[in-house]
Amino acid sequence: MTIRGETWAVLLAAGSGTRLATATEGRRKQFLPLEGLPLFWKSARTLAALPAVRGLVFVFPPSELTQRKAELHELLARCPLGIPCLAAPGGERRQDSVRYGLEQLPRQCGRVLVHDAARPFASASLARRVLDALEQGAAGAVPGLAVTDTIKRVDAREAILATLDRAELRSVQTPQGFDRAILEKAHAVALDEGWEVTDDASLVEQWIQRGLAPQTSPDGPPAVVVVPGEETNVKITTPGDLQRLRPARSAQAVSGFGYDVHRYCLEPSDGPARPMVLGGVPVPEGPDLLAHSDGDVLLHALTDAILGCCAGGDIGDHFPDNAEENENRASGIFVKEAQAIARERGVRLAHVDLTVIAQTPRLGPYKERIRESVARLLELDPECVNIKATTEERLGFTGEKRGIKAVALVNAERE
Ligand code: CTP
Ligand code: MG
Repeated sequence: MTIRGETWAVLLAAGSGTRLATATEGRRKQFLPLEGLPLFWKSARTLAALPAVRGLVFVFPPSELTQRKAELHELLARCPLGIPCLAAPGGERRQDSVRYGLEQLPRQCGRVLVHDAARPFASASLARRVLDALEQGAAGAVPGLAVTDTIKRVDAREAILATLDRAELRSVQTPQGFDRAILEKAHAVALDEGWEVTDDASLVEQWIQRGLAPQTSPDGPPAVVVVPGEETNVKITTPGDLQRLRPARSAQAVSGFGYDVHRYCLEPSDGPARPMVLGGVPVPEGPDLLAHSDGDVLLHALTDAILGCCAGGDIGDHFPDNAEENENRASGIFVKEAQAIARERGVRLAHVDLTVIAQTPRLGPYKERIRESVARLLELDPECVNIKATTEERLGFTGEKRGIKAVALVNAERE
């Protein structure tokens, strides 16, 4: 039997969200905001965008039907879905809401998708897979995922009765698609006989097992088949799921550049001489430096680069070189304070690339220790810190061994 007629979708939004009620202060989850619109609207748009879907039935809580219909009207005026949209009052149980939704379907509807509004992230391709399976003759099709946990059957005392064979299990989702007549009849029998189910497929399965369903495919008896589901198609159910509705925090890549120079102390009369320290590591072979602080040229360049990332000015703005408290001060403090300023401004360092430029001393043997020291100072993985050393080929003041310079590039993320 080929199913003729249009495909419609029933979108279930009549639940009370009891498992979430405390976390949402009683607000029903299907109306919580998601990207600035009510949650149920997200899947309404996905379903309505499918060329095969010719109409939508929204099922709303009966006590709020008038208000929800008015809201739907406003939403449709603002963002039209381009297909007829109807609304129905839901029922006590999910299966009642589905039944009331089905009652609204027009005569020409031959195939129906039933979807939980609480699954806002279902994709169009998922729905298409479901419809394709119907096209190929299934009486029903549901998206499902292989089960990764081992599943046990237990009794009322939580004593295990059986371990199920995981390979045979699927955890199923919506949208579920059916031949409209089959789904309606299965619901009618369920009502007559008092079946309690949590999805529509179970009704149709039972109905088929009883041999009541008509043949839908020439290839075999009618069946409800599972098509690949989606990990992302979660049902917003418990408070932990609410975080999925928050906008993803977006980080912007930022970078900062730093540059510093110190003179070598060639005559005792030149000024305050400091033993050479680079990146917090003493370099005893190096000439003394002239400096107010400890003269760690590398950490000064780094401090400026960090401030650069967060539009925090420069080292002199924060640590003036005429301030008494900065005299002979360990430059690691400047780095830590600059990093604290960056943190306050929502900037998190990701990677630093540092270069020391000096004719003397030879820095090769120190590079690894400097890298570890800087990584420790910044609380970064050493993989995120690089140290380079170079000469300027005897040119300029570094080449003439009159001083040392350092440059720093810092990459970071700003929230
Ligand atoms: N639903 C419905 N009518 C009901 C019960 C549920 O339309 N009487 C809908 C829900 O709005 C939801 C979907 O069925 O979109 C799946 O149900 P569930 O996740 O259980 O939602 P709630 O029943 O609202 O939540 P809870 O079980 O925590 O009360
Ligand atoms: Mg429920």
